[in-house]
Amino acid sequence: MLYHDAKTAEEIGALKLLHILELKAGMYVIDPGISWRERPYLYMCEGMLASDDEVRKIVDEGYLEVYIDPDRSPAYAGAAVPETEPDGAAERGKTPAGPKVPFAVEVKAAAEAQDVAVGYARAFMSDIRFGKLDMSPASNIVERIMHSLDNNADAMHSLCRLRRTDSYTYMHCVNVSVLSSMFARYMDKGKQSTRAIGLAGLFHDLGKALVPPYILNAPRKLSDAERRVMNTHPTLGYEQVKDLPSLIPEVPQGMLHHHECYNGVGYPAGLSGHEVSEVGYIVALADIYDALTSKRVYKDGMPPQRALGIMYEMRGKALHPDMVDAFIRMLGVYPVGSVVELSDGSLGVVSAGNQDTPIKPVVILVKDAEGGPLPGDTLDLASPDNILSIVSAVPEITAGIDPAAILGLPAGPPVVAQ
Ligand SMILES: [Fe+2]
Repeated sequence: MLYHDAKTAEEIGALKLLHILELKAGMYVIDPGISWRERPYLYMCEGMLASDDEVRKIVDEGYLEVYIDPDRSPAYAGAAVPETEPDGAAERGKTPAGPKVPFAVEVKAAAEAQDVAVGYARAFMSDIRFGKLDMSPASNIVERIMHSLDNNADAMHSLCRLRRTDSYTYMHCVNVSVLSSMFARYMDKGKQSTRAIGLAGLFHDLGKALVPPYILNAPRKLSDAERRVMNTHPTLGYEQVKDLPSLIPEVPQGMLHHHECYNGVGYPAGLSGHEVSEVGYIVALADIYDALTSKRVYKDGMPPQRALGIMYEMRGKALHPDMVDAFIRMLGVYPVGSVVELSDGSLGVVSAGNQDTPIKPVVILVKDAEGGPLPGDTLDLASPDNILSIVSAVPEITAGIDPAAILGLPAGPPVVAQ
């Protein structure tokens, strides 16, 4: 189930899984045969690393984990994460300070902030059809999101992925704002830029409200002519806000650029590389990640690891390669709410990240290896007493586990006819 072809679980047990910052020259890298889609940030090019330059190149490419063979690695002696990051790693984003408020407390405030934001998204997407746009609540709403992220980013982030309603359109506006703000914060953008990026995320699809409903809601593949109309939505949204004195230019720019591509095949202008604004690339990452992981009427949401695998394959094509790397680093190996299988065959839900050792988060145990219920004990995989490790992320459906229920997330906002 976990390993495809190559190494058996027993053979993998003899190997050592390291965080990428533990990798050194003189270590022998092993390809364990795990699918790229399951572990997009696992470096798997087998062989001995001869120099620090080789190691630095691997780190700079955005990988997070690596299997090595300790017996063939003279440099391995219980490697420890270096105190300073290798060159190039730091510029892709600093890890913000840990949570100030416990998850169980912050998740209630985060849910309230999310409800207010969803209500506002519903209002502005409706009002704009009548030529109205009340921007006055927007900054305060994004400030509340930023404040919640500052208190405990896991709370708001887990709500984005796990707390769903039928109001996908409005929840998506808010989720893109949250993920964009989270990434801006991770990239140490400063308060003003982070607010602007969060606003660009919130309003990114404003122009969709101005696309004729028979095209927007068409339950079929669009014709070429209809697709051209649909592709005007970034411009339509931009036109609505570009002259508002209350907005700094990053906001309309992000809205205009959120479907431009790194390789120039996007729209509306077919910009490429540095022609696309940073805020445009950030909103695009948030937009794609939320769309892939969202549960819809016609599809289940993908596990984060699979979504990130797909985004990893979009590096240098639709998405900016360095930003994809940084986005994956920000979300971590196992975001809160991930369902994981442990080395004893039991299943659990990640309830908190671990900044020092991202492959060893805190897990709530849910099912034993035979599928029987476990008492819901919390296990810190980084604890010195712990002997278990994560062997794989498992789709919620396959595991038969509802992470939102296990984490005790508040119910979603009420559904209102759209
Ligand atoms: Fe869009």
